[in-house]
Amino acid sequence: MGSLPVPSVQALVAATGGDDVPLRYLRPEAAAEAVTSDGDGDGDGEAQIPIIDHQRLLLELDHGGEESARLHRACQDWGFFQLVNHSVPDDVVESMKANIQQFFQLPAETKKRFAQEQGQLEGYGQLFVVSEDQKLDWADMLFLYTQPPEMRNTKFWPDQPATFRSALDRYSGAVKDVSDSLLATMAKNLGLKREAIADKCIRGMQKVRINYYPPCAQAEKVVGLSPHSDANLLTLVLQVNHVQGLQIKRNGSWLPVKPVSGAFVVNIGDMFEVLTNGRYRSIEHRAVVHPKEERLSIAAFQFPNIDTMIGPLKEMTGHEDDAYKTLDLESFMKIFFATKLEGKNFLEQMKLN
Ligand code: OGA
Ligand code: NI
Repeated sequence: MGSLPVPSVQALVAATGGDDVPLRYLRPEAAAEAVTSDGDGDGDGEAQIPIIDHQRLLLELDHGGEESARLHRACQDWGFFQLVNHSVPDDVVESMKANIQQFFQLPAETKKRFAQEQGQLEGYGQLFVVSEDQKLDWADMLFLYTQPPEMRNTKFWPDQPATFRSALDRYSGAVKDVSDSLLATMAKNLGLKREAIADKCIRGMQKVRINYYPPCAQAEKVVGLSPHSDANLLTLVLQVNHVQGLQIKRNGSWLPVKPVSGAFVVNIGDMFEVLTNGRYRSIEHRAVVHPKEERLSIAAFQFPNIDTMIGPLKEMTGHEDDAYKTLDLESFMKIFFATKLEGKNFLEQMKLN
């Protein structure tokens, strides 16, 4: 597994002043797809993804309640929500943000010490580049395996700034706990035993993707992150600075997400769609870039443990309504990383005919 090496977009902007956008990044038609300016266009008056209160969910964990019901609707009708009042301490969030910002301010040569190696996904670079003539995203990223701890490949973990590793260690564990607790409520909401999902997440994997989107003088002609759905179970994205850019596909057009400060933007991934036989679906999303300001985010991708078979849970299947194949997790991921990001194309390959 790997991704073809591409230049750093941040370095390109630094070298050229950013006025010149190489052809490989120009995709005016893709960038110009319709964006919802207010409301989501379906007339129900909901202009933004639902906001869920984590503390309320925790209080309701044993008996269910209004907040759990709201979470169920968010998962069913949106596939995306913002989680506020979550249990990751403020200082853990703030330290992670500061370390990420400082890392991307380091000289290009220093960042390159953590560059991806041929045939590997982890490290500083880019993902999903599978051909020389493919259009490229206007971004750099740092991809790290964070859970379980023995999967960590510390040579790709920046040692500058000096607090980066400890910040990511604390962040990673706290986010895994949030994810586990969300999955417990989600299992309950689906009429499953808590263990049906929780057992698969004992020693569950987590990978983080730290995204750096440089500003672009021709922002309306490039895409920061191509439309895709995430392959994993559940993703928790933290907006690192004040610049927005995430958009989700809703009723055929792109709805910009307006992150609440400190909240997680949570979304359902492909594996969850497969496990639930389509009850909860992954939603296509993308990132656009700003003409003048850089944008940073950190996505934590939660997976079950490495031995999990990815296929519809028996509790979720009727007589012959299995919509998806069953595949071991590693094969599932191999196919994902070998596929160019293109909406929900990858998941199509996981469907039974
Ligand atoms: C991702 C992702 C969104 C963002 O990394 O998979 O969707 O806001 N990121 O950067
Ligand atoms: Ni994503």
